[in-house]
Amino acid sequence: DAADVPVICIDGPTASGKGTLADELAQALGFWVLDSGALYRATAWAALQAGLDLNDEAAVAPLAATLPLRFAGGQVYLGEENVTEALRQEAVGLGASTVAALPAVRQALHALQLGFRRVPGLVADGRDMGTAIFPDAPLKVFLTASAAQRAQRRHKQLIFKGVSANIEGLLADLEARDLRDKTRSASPLKPAQDARLLDNSDLTIEASVDQVLAWWADQRPF
Ligand code: DC
Repeated sequence: DAADVPVICIDGPTASGKGTLADELAQALGFWVLDSGALYRATAWAALQAGLDLNDEAAVAPLAATLPLRFAGGQVYLGEENVTEALRQEAVGLGASTVAALPAVRQALHALQLGFRRVPGLVADGRDMGTAIFPDAPLKVFLTASAAQRAQRRHKQLIFKGVSANIEGLLADLEARDLRDKTRSASPLKPAQDARLLDNSDLTIEASVDQVLAWWADQRPF
């Protein structure tokens, strides 16, 4: 029964380090990972490819409902196409935040996300894992970091990839995206009532992983 499969939810704002934390936890525990942002990004990307208006709920939701999405070997495929790099573009992230505000899109992606809950367990990374998708998860973490810190990390990532970027622009984008994710009416970004808050502004990745593993060891029921 899927309800018996443990889920660790990692929710939080853009560039707070959710993906890295989720991957490291999954590796430490031998769990599956759900990168739910990739679903919204893939929807936005497919809608852009089709020339759709990203606010057109009736046109975008059917795309989300039939996404031929596949994760394999750290890569993301849409049909036969490897879209791993395409999905990481800032423009696609912003588009994802737009389509994510459409209730019919969230509804269309709901069942797809539940399907990732498989033995021995799942680490789910997103905005509403603990509040909407896996409300019965035994451990929910709400990961934050200051906006300045997140802009700096994003800047470092982009420079590392050889993409030029300026911190002020990145900070403005992050804040705009945070605002839209927090103020939308459909599953807004907010901590679940029973979430543990983790601010990693001054923590190394290892320290964050150790903290969550300690919480997990504390509260797992077996
Ligand atoms: O985590 P990310 O940057 O890949 O997410 C991209 C956008 O998708 C984000 O701005 C908001 C949206 N999103 C969401 O609404 N719910 C989720 N569970 C994951 C992402």
